[in-house]
Amino acid sequence: MAGQVVSHIGIAVADLDEGIRKYALLLGQEPGQIEEVADQKVRVAIFGDSAGGGRVELLAPTSEDSPISKFLERKGGGLHHICVYVEDIEKKLAELKAAGIRLIDEVPRVGAEGSRIAFVHPADVGGVLIELEERAG
Ligand code: CO
Repeated sequence: MAGQVVSHIGIAVADLDEGIRKYALLLGQEPGQIEEVADQKVRVAIFGDSAGGGRVELLAPTSEDSPISKFLERKGGGLHHICVYVEDIEKKLAELKAAGIRLIDEVPRVGAEGSRIAFVHPADVGGVLIELEERAG
């Protein structure tokens, strides 16, 4: 099925409020959604229409052992992941695994906005951390 490929790009920031101020100025709009994703120990702010794809997600750590804390220590911020839509997340994970592509999550978990997501290891997909998001509906 064709259509929108990218749900959002994830950008890691140390301070979410400061990130929101700067990106609100940059994008000319306020974030549509700000929420805590406890599972990943992050707070996220999402800019753009949730139905439209192509959004920007700012991520800031809520704890020292958040994966985003480690990323910020290593890289000092920057592009963290690209999230792409999939139709059936379990099926996609099985296909990727069968193709020898390393997965971070072998089973889906719950991401921002209650979406079903999973992460694919960057090593086998061009050095970029990829988040899969099951298309809603
Ligand atoms: Co994301």
